[in-house]
Amino acid sequence: MEKPIDPTSTAAWSKLVELFSNFDADFAGWFSADPKRVETFTYTAGSLHVDLSKSYLTPEVRDALLQLAEETQVFDRRDAMYAGEHINVTEDRAVLHTALRRPADDELTVDGQDVVGDVHEVKNRMYDFARRVRSGEWRGVTGKPIRTVINIGIGGSDLGPVMAYEALKPYVKDGLECRYISNIDPTDVGEKLRGVDPETALFIVASKTFTTLETLTNARQARAWLLQQLAARGVEDATAVAKHFVAVSTNLEKVAEFGIEPENAFGFWDWVGGRYSVDSAVGLSLAIAIGPDNFDDFLHGFHLIDQHFASADPAENVPLLMGLLNIWYVNFFGAKTHAVLPYSQYLHRFPAYLQQLTMESNGKRVRWDGTPVTTATGEVFWGEPGTNGQHAFYQLIHQGTQLIPADFIAFANPTYALRDGEADQHELFLGNFFAQTKALAFGKTADEVRAEGTPEEIVSARVFPGNKPTASIMAPALTPSVLGQLIALYEHITFTQGAVWGIDSFDQWGVELGKQMAKDLGPAIAGDEAALAEQDPSTKALITYYRKHRQ
Ligand code: F6P
Repeated sequence: MEKPIDPTSTAAWSKLVELFSNFDADFAGWFSADPKRVETFTYTAGSLHVDLSKSYLTPEVRDALLQLAEETQVFDRRDAMYAGEHINVTEDRAVLHTALRRPADDELTVDGQDVVGDVHEVKNRMYDFARRVRSGEWRGVTGKPIRTVINIGIGGSDLGPVMAYEALKPYVKDGLECRYISNIDPTDVGEKLRGVDPETALFIVASKTFTTLETLTNARQARAWLLQQLAARGVEDATAVAKHFVAVSTNLEKVAEFGIEPENAFGFWDWVGGRYSVDSAVGLSLAIAIGPDNFDDFLHGFHLIDQHFASADPAENVPLLMGLLNIWYVNFFGAKTHAVLPYSQYLHRFPAYLQQLTMESNGKRVRWDGTPVTTATGEVFWGEPGTNGQHAFYQLIHQGTQLIPADFIAFANPTYALRDGEADQHELFLGNFFAQTKALAFGKTADEVRAEGTPEEIVSARVFPGNKPTASIMAPALTPSVLGQLIALYEHITFTQGAVWGIDSFDQWGVELGKQMAKDLGPAIAGDEAALAEQDPSTKALITYYRKHRQ
């Protein structure tokens, strides 16, 4: 693996430093000076319409950012990823989530493995299983069809499937419901099993490693619950677990140890990162819920954006430009966070999903050769659907002191075309989407506030400074394909940022220490005085408080 190139050492970076020193964001001025600004900075990727005209792009900035991508070898790294080179250096793995959505007639052999062939083999088994569950051919131990699919997983084995299930609710088969258990907090498994009929429940234990404490603990609880509930109904059948439990994992040995039959296990591979795995067998709950045809559309959406990222001209390449823009915001304007604001209630878990994708990928302090990063990395991604967020935190984006670049996402067509009297409710909704980026860009001056008759002493409180950068992403409707496109867009934005920073966006060592410590603290929490005495003063005091108050 090549040594990472220090982005700050490039000629493009020097150019950006210079551009930044003279940079004066002025949307009103930019739009009036350049009648073609919207056209210049509006792009198409798949069915996504992406307007970056209200971002901090100017032609000079765009060109310098593209030069930065060239000089930091983003394109070589992208090609290496698609080809299956081991770009995940600290784990010595290929990074091939893009292979999960390649058509069956593509060819890709990596490390001697027929990657595309294997992907389709598992996918076909998944689809066959999904069809059997949906048609009622697959039955529980008492002969009833499945009504509730309960996915047990955490992180990438939960966030993607639950987000996509919520987003694609209109595509879910009537009479089927999915639930998602992730937290080791016993309330999660307790609450999610409430009201479930054990005879019509199907559990999917999803874990890439099949060693994750939360998932295995919850899976054991679910298995005990199932057997106990069935026994209470007089059903004691040795095949119950086989009829009600399936697994998704790269570790099929551990799956078998848990007691799940190999024919009920769906594999994937170490070259699929957890946070990039919703389009692998990890999406099984979704494939059952929306059906194989819709799941195929979902995968096709990813593939469209993969192709765009691989081959679109850099100056028209949307994930590349958005990733580079984020570099501009983080490393020059000092942006510490980035809001993602979907104007779609269906996407209410999308920001949470993106948090793992972006922050587990780019929250790194050393580069892939182990040397320290040379710039800030990994901004905080966050958000909530509009319009709810407007009534909560938009105040800070409009008038606070921090620069918060924000992506606004909306769809031309609603699922529910409701009217409120004369008004089309979707238009009331989209009015807010259009208004927010307009208000953020153009603001409201003191003179405009005064002209409304505002008393002088509160004029400044009512001024909107404007010139806040946003991206507007629109599509005709939220379909499975469009959802796949949106996810792939953010995957490649994340990739671009990581590549410029020279970091390994595909490992996640930062989650290990806490996991280990949680295990090691077990004896002290359970009352071992010697183990408690070894703890630091704060941990000791907290555990002591817990022990005193636990009944
Ligand atoms: O702890 C972080 C993590 O390793 C994530 O990267 C992963 O998505 C999650 O845990 C769950 O891991 P697994 O799918 O192996 O249970």
